[in-house]
Amino acid sequence: MTDLDSLKSELLTAAHAAPDLAALEALRVSGLGKKGRITQLMKGLGGLDPEARKAQGQALNLVKDALQSAIEARKAELEEVELERRLAEESLDVSLPARPREVGLVHPISQTMEELVAIFGEMGFTVAEGPHIEDDFHNFDALNIPPEHPARQEMDTFYFPEKPDGSRMVLRTHTSPVQVRTMQSTKPPIRVIAPGRTFRADHDATHSPMFHQVEGLVIDESTHMGHLKGTLIEFCRAYFGVDDLPVRFRPSYFPFTEPSAEVDIGCSKKGGQLVIGAGDDWLEILGCGMVNPKVLENCGIDSSKYQGFAFGMGIERIAMLKYGMPDLRPFYDSDIRWLRHYGFVPLETPSMVRGL
Ligand code: PHE
Repeated sequence: MTDLDSLKSELLTAAHAAPDLAALEALRVSGLGKKGRITQLMKGLGGLDPEARKAQGQALNLVKDALQSAIEARKAELEEVELERRLAEESLDVSLPARPREVGLVHPISQTMEELVAIFGEMGFTVAEGPHIEDDFHNFDALNIPPEHPARQEMDTFYFPEKPDGSRMVLRTHTSPVQVRTMQSTKPPIRVIAPGRTFRADHDATHSPMFHQVEGLVIDESTHMGHLKGTLIEFCRAYFGVDDLPVRFRPSYFPFTEPSAEVDIGCSKKGGQLVIGAGDDWLEILGCGMVNPKVLENCGIDSSKYQGFAFGMGIERIAMLKYGMPDLRPFYDSDIRWLRHYGFVPLETPSMVRGL
C-alpha cells in the first residue's frame, strides 16, 4: 500500500467514525484545510517532473474527492441523527392534562359598577368622576346644605385638620359633589352618572366607613319628574332582571332636590328569605328628586331656563340585595374564600347586561 493509499484509508475511516459535526469539521480542516495534509501534498507537486506530477496530481485529486464525499455523507448522517433527536425531545404529548390556570375573579363592587355603567350607558349617560377629598363648598354648601344644617351632622363626616384660614377639607360623604363639579364645568344638556368611593364615620353589618355610591344627574330645558320616574323604574327592572318589578316613589327630603323621593322596590321577606319582585313588602334602594333651583344657581346654571333630576344609591346595598349577601363587612376583608364564592368570572357578562 502506498503512503497515499494509507492516508486515504486513514482519512476515510476517520470520516465514517466522526462522532459529531465538530469532529467532522476538524477532520476536514486537517485534510483539506489551508494547512491540511492533502493540501500540503498538492503544494509539493511543483517539485516533481511533469509525468510524475500528472500521475500524483490525479491520485491526490481522487483522494481529495473521496474524502469530500465521505465528509458530506457523514455530515448528512449526523444531521439526520440530530434531527431525530430533536424531534423526539421536542414532541408534545397532547394527551397530557392541562396545567391548572389561576383565574382572578371580579369583585362584586366592580361587577356592580360595570352593570350600572352598562345600564345607564344604554340610556345615554356618560361617566363623571371627582376627587375623594372635597371642600365644604362642593360637598355641602353648593348642595344647599349650610353649616347649621342637620344633614351635616347626620352624615358623620370625616374632617381633615383645620387650614390656617379655618376651613377644613372633608372625605366626601356622598358622590353628589361630582354633580356640582359637572354643572360647574359643563353647559347643559347634562346626562352623567358618577360611581365612586364615599366615606362616613359609621361601622356595622350594613355600614362601612368607606363605601361606594353612584350618583346620576340629568339637566336640560325640559326634563321633568316623569322622566325621573321612567328612568329609575327602567333602571330597577333592568338591574334586578325583573320585568314587572313593582317600584314605588315615596315623598322624602334632601336639601339638594325639590321635590324629593325615596324609591322602594317590591319584595317578600317571608321566613327570612328575601325575594325581589314578589310579595307585598317594600325595600328602599335609592334617593332622588328634581334638582333644587338653588343648587343650579350655586353651580352657575340659570334655573329659570334649566331643570332636571338627580338620584343616588349605595352600590354595596344594591349588590347585597341582588346577590343575596347578608353582611357588608367581608366586601373589604380581601378574603380569597369569600371572593371565590361571590366573585365573578372576568369577561363573562352577566345575562342581565347581555340582554340589554
Ligand atoms: N346624596 C344622597 C345621599 O348620599 C343621595 C341622593 C343623591 C339623593 C341625589 C337624591 C339625589 O344620601
